Formats: sequence, C-alpha cells, structure tokens
Amino acid sequence: GLPERVTIYEVGPRDGLQNEKAVVPVEVKAEFVARLAGAGLRTIETTSFVHPKWVPQLADAEDLLAALPPSGGAPRPVLVPNERGLDRALANGVTEIAIFGSATETFARRNLNRTVDESIAMFEPVVARARAEGLWVRAYVSMVCGDPWEGDVPIEQVVSVSSRLMDLGCSQLSLGDTIGVGTPGQVTALIEAHVAAGIGTDRLAVHFHDTYGQALANTLAALRAGVTTVDASAGGLGGCPYAESATGNLATEDLVWMLNGLGIDTGVDLAKLAATSQWMAGRLGRPSPSRVVQALAPP
Ligand code: HMG
Ligand code: MG
Repeated sequence: GLPERVTIYEVGPRDGLQNEKAVVPVEVKAEFVARLAGAGLRTIETTSFVHPKWVPQLADAEDLLAALPPSGGAPRPVLVPNERGLDRALANGVTEIAIFGSATETFARRNLNRTVDESIAMFEPVVARARAEGLWVRAYVSMVCGDPWEGDVPIEQVVSVSSRLMDLGCSQLSLGDTIGVGTPGQVTALIEAHVAAGIGTDRLAVHFHDTYGQALANTLAALRAGVTTVDASAGGLGGCPYAESATGNLATEDLVWMLNGLGIDTGVDLAKLAATSQWMAGRLGRPSPSRVVQALAPP
C-alpha cells in the first residue's frame, strides 16, 4: 500500500545552493525560502553552520536566518557538524538541526575531515547538547547506495553507521543516496534492513539525488516500504561539493506531480512552486533540470 500523507522535507536552499557556482545574494536566498513556504512547503532546510571555507556558498548562514520572516512554527532545520556549528545555530535561534554522517570512510574523510569513528565522536556532544536545549535532531547517513571511491556499500555497513547515529539520540534518520546510483530493489532492501535493526519507518526519511534518473522510482519504492518523509529540492537543484558526480536532488515538483497523481496529500501548490523554481533558474543562469518545472513553467 501507499501512505495517505507524505511530508516533504525541502532541501533546495541548503543542498541545492551549496553546490551552485554562482554566488546567490542573501536577499535572493531569503526570497527563495519565503516563496517555497508560500507554495505550501512546511519543512525547509535553509542553510548550514559548517566551516565557511569548506562551503563558501553558505557562508552567509547568520545573515540568511536574520533575513527570514518568522516561520510560524514550521520547521527550519540547518546542518550542524560540530559544537562550533551548534554554538552558531543556537545563537541564531535555530530549533531544528541535522548532523550528517557517512556510511563510508572515504566520504567521512572528504566531507568531514574525520574517520567514521571520529565523526561520530564529533557528533556525540552536538546531539547531547542540542537535545538538552530542546532541539529536534535529524541524522543524515550518506553514500547508502554506493560511494564514488569505494563502489558498492554493504547494507550492514550502512545499518551499522545508522544505528550509531540514532543511538546518539536523533529523532529522524535520512538515508542519503548522495551520488544517485541506487535502484528501487536496493532501496527496499535498505529500508527493510533498517526496520529489522529497530529504526522504524516512522523515523526514516529518504534523500535521493537524481544522477542516474532513479530518484522518483526509488521514492515510490520507499513509500511502498512505509516511509512517509521524502527529501526533495525545488527545481532539482543540488549536489555535494565533496562527492564526485553528485547531481541535483529529486526535484520537489517531480515528487509533487507523482504524489498528486497517486492521490496523496501534500498541501503544495505546484504551479506556485514551479514558478519559484523557474525564477530561481533565472537567478542562477541555468535551466532547471526538472521535467515538471519545464512542462509547467516554461521560461
Ligand atoms: P576541520 O578543518 O577538521 O575543522 O573541518 P577543525 O575542527 O579542525 O577546526 C578548524 C577551524 O575551523 C577552527 O578555527 C574552528 O573554529 C573552525 P581556528 O580555531 O583554527 O581559528 N570551525 C568552524 N567555523 C565555523 N563554523 C563551524 C566550524 N567548525 C570548525 N561549524 C568540519 C571539519 C566538519 C568543520 C569541515 O569538514 C566542514 O565544515 N565540513 C562540512 C562539509 C559540508 O558541508 N558538506 C556538504 C553537506 S553534506 C551533504 O551534502 C550530504 C547530504 O545532502 C546527504 C546526502 O546527500 O547524502 C546531507
Ligand atoms: Mg544531499
């Protein structure tokens, strides 16, 4: 069966813009977030409190949060890798954070400058302090369907890292196919293995990049396996600067088009959303890769 409702976790302002060559002015980012909210997206990951030299595109995190209108209680999570990042998030009134671990050693090194063990040790005080401050904490686990340097990643290896991240006290786990190589059978097996390890579908989210055009098929497999939170990026923006060959995320418009057709409620105004992505494409100087954006809001 399929769920009656799906929660869309919008990552365009963070995962999308972290990888753009063009410098996007903070006012444009703030308008982007406001327009996404206006199109009915409730949960919007806005930025990252990471090292500004590692991700210069998001070095304006403080300014962006200051420029955003109040969310009216809607979640506005931000990425936080370490205690320095948590300090910055707390100083700026953040109430939801996401830590981000890796299923592979190579990506842990490249993305966090740490081994897997060291990165979990780095996250431990972040989650403990965040929880003590009453924050909601998500954990990402990356490279769940394959790694550009290590190739296939055994499911047991993913589940092991996932369990360690959740044991820190996180409320949700987002399974990241960072480079978009996964296929639906693999996704089903991955979710079943997490459920068997005690991480139920009520605590799981899926995060698909669309490099090989599999993101929507993988999402349908995840919904059939009981997952109800799906990450997506308006217009299909995105990628990871530290992961070779990662392209954009599943486009939110492609997701909403499919869910609408399946009769699954999302509360998103698709026309408004596509117009927002078309506007953003204009600011970035490149067309949206989303077929639905191209069909609904031609430039
Ligand atoms: P490091 O160089 O090992 O940092 O980087 P450090 O702990 O050695 O600290 C060095 C200096 O940086 C210190 O300053 C710190 O204060 C400062 P100094 O004392 O030398 O003057 N510093 C910071 N400054 C501001 N904010 C901070 C911060 N932390 C340290 N938060 C670090 C380690 C984790 C910081 C670095 O590797 C980093 O920032 N990595 C982030 C990379 C990133 O953002 N990648 C993209 C997001 S992940 C992704 O896209 C995947 C996902 O979408 C899921 C999927 O698709 O699979 C989530
Ligand atoms: Mg990602």
